[in-house]
Amino acid sequence: MKIFVTGATGWIGSTVVDQLLAAGHDITGLARSDDSAAALSAKGARALRGDLDDLAGIRAGAEAAEAVVHLANKHDFADQAATNRSERGAVQAVGEVLAGSHRPFVVAAGLAFLAPGRTATEADRSPFHGVDSLRGGSENLALEFAEKGVGTVVVRFAPTVHGAGDHGFLAGVVATARAKGVSAYAGDGANRWAAVHREDAGRVVRLALERGVPAGTVMHAAAEDGLPFRDIAEAVGRGLGLPTASVPVDNAAEHFGWLHKFATADMCASADATRTLLGWTPTGPTLEEDLDSGCYYR
Ligand SMILES: NC(=O)c1ccc[n+]([C@@H]2O[C@H](COP(=O)([O-])OP(=O)(O)OC[C@H]3O[C@@H](n4cnc5c(N)ncnc54)[C@H](OP(=O)(O)O)[C@@H]3O)[C@@H](O)[C@H]2O)c1
Repeated sequence: MKIFVTGATGWIGSTVVDQLLAAGHDITGLARSDDSAAALSAKGARALRGDLDDLAGIRAGAEAAEAVVHLANKHDFADQAATNRSERGAVQAVGEVLAGSHRPFVVAAGLAFLAPGRTATEADRSPFHGVDSLRGGSENLALEFAEKGVGTVVVRFAPTVHGAGDHGFLAGVVATARAKGVSAYAGDGANRWAAVHREDAGRVVRLALERGVPAGTVMHAAAEDGLPFRDIAEAVGRGLGLPTASVPVDNAAEHFGWLHKFATADMCASADATRTLLGWTPTGPTLEEDLDSGCYYR
């Protein structure tokens, strides 16, 4: 299959591209720099130079493809509005190109703030609509395109897609502990994080493309439903040789900085429907195995 991948050089995108190439697919990745273009060429993918805000380039990539995977995100937590606008704009542009074609469109999403206090399932609808909402409401926008002949498949990744080289939230937790000299959790630390190893997360994307799942399907890339944040903090404390301690919830923003909304969030999710639909069985290390392997502390 000819597949256009945005975010092809990112943490998840790199393994997705590797796995798709290994399965014999023809990959074109959006590249915003010479380095990213070179990284794609070196592994046998094509590079399409462009940017998330260059919608003409994104449209051209989608037009030439039999399927699109959208994994790029600015992740600018200092300018969330700009990040949201770009995310929504890219989904809108791809959706318009694919409308009526029934070509697959796999869109990255998250589990944050979806169902606090309980285990989210694939049947839960995202409460975020419109450009000013989380991720620019892109999950719901992408699902609206399923009504217009687009083969939309939403993949909600666990809040930690872990493994050696991770630079996401978990790496932020480790960096915060190192900087503060204490591995902290907020309050009783009972808020949970779902988790998935990077290779298993990539496999969800590949299988979503290859299995021809129905348009409008929502998947969860979550191998572990939810670890209490206190357990994560204790593993990080062990790994860094630092004490683990509770900080008052009211002080979490000061302690965790930009990360505090996620460090205090309850983000538990099952992936039962995804496992059944795709025949997906995670095989990678668990979150605690990765934390105890030392790969986060080098
Ligand atoms: N990792 C997680 O734990 C996690 C959890 C939940 C949801 N997600 C979502 O899953 C998706 C992939 O995440 P990730 O962890 O792989 O992200 P990442 O490692 O930060 O990679 C982001 C990708 O987007 C590209 N990008 C950033 N700004 C761009 C721009 N202005 N124009 C074009 N490309 C741009 C980057 O290109 P360069 O390589 O050139 O920088 C990179 O390929 C994102 O939507 C993310 O929010 C991730």
